[in-house]
Amino acid sequence: MKDGEFIKNIKLKLDRPVVLVGMMGSGKSHLGQQLALELGVRFYDSDTIIEKKAGCAIAEIFSRDGEPKFREVEKNTILELLGGGPCVVATGGGAVMNPETMEEIKKRAVSIWLCAGIETLLARTAKNANRPLLKESSPETVLRELLAKREAIYAKADMRIDSSDSAQAQSVPAMIKSLSDFLNTANLCSP
Ligand code: S3P
Repeated sequence: MKDGEFIKNIKLKLDRPVVLVGMMGSGKSHLGQQLALELGVRFYDSDTIIEKKAGCAIAEIFSRDGEPKFREVEKNTILELLGGGPCVVATGGGAVMNPETMEEIKKRAVSIWLCAGIETLLARTAKNANRPLLKESSPETVLRELLAKREAIYAKADMRIDSSDSAQAQSVPAMIKSLSDFLNTANLCSP
């Protein structure tokens, strides 16, 4: 099958959001926008929505209100997006660590884990200073520790796609094929 046929099949069968999970720097926002464009659906980035609501950057929310408050707002923002029908949602890297958020993603969305090696994550996150968790100590140590804690949760996503630099050009076509195959075989309950 060609990409166009996979896309047609997805458009026919997709009745819920496609949620991208994975580490900071895994390409959720960048690849998510491209995927949404291909599927002709809206794209949402939970971090961007939170920043708009708060009127300031994520780093400022962390320092002003603390991480627990950010996590609460993050959970509510994602749960709201899950009720909105077919779209693509990029979540913040730590969002799935809230068990309720991951449970709802599993029930009401199709989920894709974008997975990249530490070198790729390090290089990409070094370009952007708006990641408070990477400011405190060595970004490499933090990323390795977070990945070790989170990997088993990311692995609960319905699909896993390589988004390392070496694979990135193929990540969107791979997501499209994988989504189409998943929707052909999955026995989804109403969202
Ligand atoms: C975080 C990831 C960030 C943002 C916040 C915390 C995390 O989003 O939500 O800085 O805990 O991994 P990205 O994954 O989009 O960078």
